Amino acid sequence: MSTSISETAGKITVHVLQRMKNNHEKIAMLTAYDYSMAKLLEMAGIEVILVGDSAANVIDGYKTTLPMTLDHMIYHAASVVRAVEKALVVVDMPFGSYQGNSKDALHSAVRIMKESGADAVKLEGGKEVLESIDRILTAGIPVMGHLGLTPQSINKFGTYAVRAQEEAEADCLLKDALLLEKAGCFAIVLEKIPAQLARKVAETIKIPVIGIGAGKDVDGQVLVLHDMLGITQQFSPRYLRRYLDLSTEITNALKCYIQDVKSKSFPNEKEQY
Ligand code: KIV
Repeated sequence: MSTSISETAGKITVHVLQRMKNNHEKIAMLTAYDYSMAKLLEMAGIEVILVGDSAANVIDGYKTTLPMTLDHMIYHAASVVRAVEKALVVVDMPFGSYQGNSKDALHSAVRIMKESGADAVKLEGGKEVLESIDRILTAGIPVMGHLGLTPQSINKFGTYAVRAQEEAEADCLLKDALLLEKAGCFAIVLEKIPAQLARKVAETIKIPVIGIGAGKDVDGQVLVLHDMLGITQQFSPRYLRRYLDLSTEITNALKCYIQDVKSKSFPNEKEQY
């Protein structure tokens, strides 16, 4: 059996990801926001860790990702970077840190790279953020794009429903993907779009396409860690596969602890000095 590019690579770089796509080797990506979880992801052999602005939802309890700040993203990213040697760490640029003014975008991206030690940044949108992407790339910072359902634009969309089902929006998405590739993005996330369209994008552009709710015919998959581990309960989109029911497991463990304290069975003789 031939060994995989990912296994034999040292540090995962954007070039390793490109080689994986060229070799039809799927890329596994998950989110993390803290040291302990990032350590587990690294031990499991994940290739890409996304410090997502989904931290706003699963860590901070906000309804949308809009309140997330640059300082908070840097804090989460630095914690993750301290745990990781091999995986590529990509950090989401938060809402308001890159739209509209490419100089501000560069400043935000430079802060993320300098203060967290991450490997790359990700930002949402197509041609409307192209100037920001161009400027960030001039500083030698790798950029991952994000098209389809872009949660930072939720107030424009009005809903988290599947995107690009109509031909016009699908055409627009494909054009944006080509623009991002031409600009020099090293990969693109496609969120919640029809599988057929995602497949077309992945076949058309040469850079890796990572899907979330975009079907199987893309170059890799990403999920939010707290969703796939079953820590979050209310969020159940069709694309989400839960690998654990951690909310039940954790709640049961907490109940046992409370009971042990109340019944004085914890600590026992061996658990004291
Ligand atoms: O913030 C995030 O976790 C993301 C993923 C859903 C791709 O952008």
